[in-house]
Amino acid sequence: MSTLPLPPLAGMVPCARQQTVPLVAQTRIARDTYRLRLAAPQLAAAALPGQFFMVKAPGETDPLLGRPFALYDVWGDDPATPAGIDLVYLILGKATRLMPTWSAGGEVEVWGPLGNGFPLPQCDRLLLVAGGIGNTPFPAVIREALGRHHYGTGAGASGASRQMPRPLAPDHITFCYGVRSAEYLVGTDELQGLGIDLQIATDDGSRGHRGFVTELVERWLTRHAGNAADAQRVAVYCCGPERMMKGVAHLAARFQARCWLSLETPMACGFGACFSCVTKVKEPNGDWDYRRTCVEGPIFPAEVLDLD
Ligand SMILES: Cc1cc2nc3c(=O)[nH]c(=O)nc-3n(C[C@H](O)[C@H](O)[C@H](O)COP(=O)(O)OP(=O)(O)OC[C@H]3O[C@@H](n4cnc5c(N)ncnc54)[C@H](O)[C@@H]3O)c2cc1C
Ligand code: FES
Repeated sequence: MSTLPLPPLAGMVPCARQQTVPLVAQTRIARDTYRLRLAAPQLAAAALPGQFFMVKAPGETDPLLGRPFALYDVWGDDPATPAGIDLVYLILGKATRLMPTWSAGGEVEVWGPLGNGFPLPQCDRLLLVAGGIGNTPFPAVIREALGRHHYGTGAGASGASRQMPRPLAPDHITFCYGVRSAEYLVGTDELQGLGIDLQIATDDGSRGHRGFVTELVERWLTRHAGNAADAQRVAVYCCGPERMMKGVAHLAARFQARCWLSLETPMACGFGACFSCVTKVKEPNGDWDYRRTCVEGPIFPAEVLDLD
């Protein structure tokens, strides 16, 4: 593996708030996929790329528990004081089936920002890999890596304000994005507008490469991390289905590239109380222990996870 020290992961952000906030807009943006635009300036100022929010309908008891959704991005006219957050969800089960009935003008209960967030990229080339709705953390990661937005700036909020000391050039950010078919793709026009290298894979060949997104990842690593010196200069951030993340982690290990995974472990409380979200991690002394994905994660260096 790389001899570079791993960038420190941000700790739990102590500024998580529970708020009932206005739903400004709900927009269908892809098949079974919607964007919630929430007016929440404090949450927008505090959130870091890769953090998440527990979301539910106010006063609703069925389902009783909120569901976790990653920060998609912040929005607003003035980048220094964003007006709110965007969340993007795919309809999956009980809660997400009800969410499209929420109307603009109503309210949503939000708890967050939660979790650690992705580390600030410390690399020459950044490879982002998403499978399906695992794309949601990446618009914010990309804008931060390009130096287009500074996250966590909320005065007195998280204390986690940070910015890229040396933003990456757009052509040094590659986003390998795999979905079942083109109708599930989210936000590709905006991503292309940022000038990054966007590589799409679809299972049915309806857009981009026909096949697994891991095939694009292997091609990229061969080109940009083919020798030890190059491998030290890249970082891989990945989010998506477990099997896909396992494939990406194994590829990164083979090429000795640093890799972080954002786990989408089902969660009950989201703030560390119930231990329903634990994942097995390797301790520095080689022993195994458990960590709560909602507090110590959801982002972990791939090499500490038990992926077999
Ligand atoms: C940190 C984090 C960030 C997330 N960000 C997003 C996001 O930005 N957008 C988005 O659409 N989803 C995201 N998810 C997943 C999202 O939380 C689930 O899709 C949601 O909780 C499903 O709720 P539900 O009531 O509709 O489904 P449920 O009725 O709870 O579940 C339906 C079925 O899906 C399974 N399931 C539930 N949750 C998951 C999961 N996380 N992974 C795999 N299977 C699951 C259940 O076991 C069940 O079989 C995230 C999850 C985590 C942990
Ligand atoms: S979801 Fe309750 S401890 Fe993580």
